[in-house]
Amino acid sequence: MLSEKLIELINKQINYEFFSEHVYLAMSAYCADQDLDGLSNFFRVQAEEERFHAMKFFDYVIDMNARVRIKNNPEPRNDYNSMLDVFKAALEHEKSNTRNIYEIADAATEERNHATISFLKWFIDEQVEEEALMNSLIKKLERIGDDSAALYMLDTELAARTFVPPTTSNV
Ligand SMILES: [Fe+2]
Ligand SMILES: [Fe+2]
Repeated sequence: MLSEKLIELINKQINYEFFSEHVYLAMSAYCADQDLDGLSNFFRVQAEEERFHAMKFFDYVIDMNARVRIKNNPEPRNDYNSMLDVFKAALEHEKSNTRNIYEIADAATEERNHATISFLKWFIDEQVEEEALMNSLIKKLERIGDDSAALYMLDTELAARTFVPPTTSNV
């Protein structure tokens, strides 16, 4: 069972995950426009992950016999100044998402809603990975600087990323 407060917070999160999907699609489009197809692929896969997160929350609300409500999200940022700028924005986006998830976890803990506390554990761990990934790419891009050959090497590396939905055992 979910309290009205948790239903509201999780619905807000469903919409935020869809917003994240669009934030990353806009980043993917920006990278494609810069002819960096590997970086574009990286954000496209990132967008797919965000949609997966949204659907995971969506299914949880339905499993708890509560109502999902889809809302409109604001327009994501479409323009950036550099690849470093893109990844810094991606890190900030992930940090704000971590804060959202902690807010839900705090509410679930306060209510001693153990099902929700357990469900959120996956997302808490996932946010550690998400922030670490963006941080490591920021460091790489800072090292790359103006070296276009190094940037193309990173682009080639990121072209190989594919979306693999987590198996049911670790969902
Ligand atoms: Fe997410
Ligand atoms: Fe994320």
